[in-house]
Amino acid sequence: MEDKMQKIVSLAKRRGFVFPGSEIYGGLANTWDYGPLGIEMVNNIKELWWQRFVRAREDVVGISSSILMNPKVWQASGHLKGFVDPLVECQKCHSRLRADHLKEEFDNKCPSCKGDQFSEEKNFNLMFKTFIGPVEDKTSTVYLRPETAQGMFVNFKNILDSTRLKMPFGIAQIGKAFRNEITPGNFIFRVLEFEMMEIEYFIEEKDWQKYFDYWQKEMEKWLEQIGINKKNFIVREHGKDELSHYSKKTVDFEYKYPFGQKELYGLAYRTDYDLKAHNLSHEGFVPHVIEPTFGVSRTILALLCDAYTEEKDRIVLKLKPTLAPYKVAVFPLLANKPELVKKAREVFELLQPHLTTTWDDRGNIGKRYYSQDEIGTVACVTIDFDSLEKDDVTIRERDSMKQERVKIKDLMKVIKEKLES
Ligand code: GAP
Repeated sequence: MEDKMQKIVSLAKRRGFVFPGSEIYGGLANTWDYGPLGIEMVNNIKELWWQRFVRAREDVVGISSSILMNPKVWQASGHLKGFVDPLVECQKCHSRLRADHLKEEFDNKCPSCKGDQFSEEKNFNLMFKTFIGPVEDKTSTVYLRPETAQGMFVNFKNILDSTRLKMPFGIAQIGKAFRNEITPGNFIFRVLEFEMMEIEYFIEEKDWQKYFDYWQKEMEKWLEQIGINKKNFIVREHGKDELSHYSKKTVDFEYKYPFGQKELYGLAYRTDYDLKAHNLSHEGFVPHVIEPTFGVSRTILALLCDAYTEEKDRIVLKLKPTLAPYKVAVFPLLANKPELVKKAREVFELLQPHLTTTWDDRGNIGKRYYSQDEIGTVACVTIDFDSLEKDDVTIRERDSMKQERVKIKDLMKVIKEKLES
């Protein structure tokens, strides 16, 4: 299974999905950059999520709040005190590790030197600090947000005053969060900065179980929509000792990654903890909150793991068409025949304004198919000598590898049907 992970990491780098961060300077642990194909996938995921959970719903509105907030926010929210991990230090090489990860992921052995003697546990705050202005002192300290949620809570009143929302309702946000993670991260599973897609859903206390169950189902439907196989994830409830400082009940959606079953998404009942902490109320009472949270990089990782398929003569990324970086690739059969290239360019220019389209004229057709399958391109369109006569093309489907001839005038319609099916 670890082997599968190495293949995915290598494909991701070779084909431009994910690159190690700051690579030419030796990298920076737990940072990764999305390449041309990776960012297409990221944008597709965020777009689909926003469409489903914000635009298609009357009871949810979006915001985009600042990463830097008044430090009083983190004081009130409990993050300054409670957003901590237990830290131990290896007595041999002095690497620092999270005590819980040491047990769960490294079998109580230091991943750097294999040492088995560690210091006492100490609490370590995960928030990154920085400073506003030229003086680096206590009064100028600010934090990079570790969750987007607080930006939604502190705008609770602004949202109510500027919209006509009535309870129950939700505020959604997609944005970056930062955490000073100290355990080595398993590719993009655990990173220092990552995007989150979060909803804070405000309810009356008596309804919390109903809406918790409702959002759990919504999250399951989302996973189905993006094509994660049901067999590859489970829903697990947190034990009392695992709960975050604000939560009364949390379930994790855990995905079976090649390196083990671990958190993909979370769903928490945050009670009235946050609004109370910020002294916010509505119509004389403090609403309670159900919070579904989706990490973007973990979504990408789960999708790559789920879609990666080795067949007899090819590797295919069987991504849902909506998420695939390229929907179509256009090929002239022979790159050295100007009349074919000209016709293929016309087809390319016809498709490109409407669909993410790529051009390939290297090597033979077989190699081009192989190359497009590996990055999940949904359809390949080839222009050959018959195309010049008949004004048609060959279209080949990624999963079935079936080929058919289609008139150029019908091409857009046929491709759109394939993308929707
Ligand atoms: N507001 C709730 C909250 O922050 P969380 O479970 O700590 O909850 C939410 O984080 C989601 O963010 C996780 O389910 C996961 O998808 C993602 N996530 C958390 N830490 C991460 C990290 N270091 N790297 C990548 N994704 C992370």
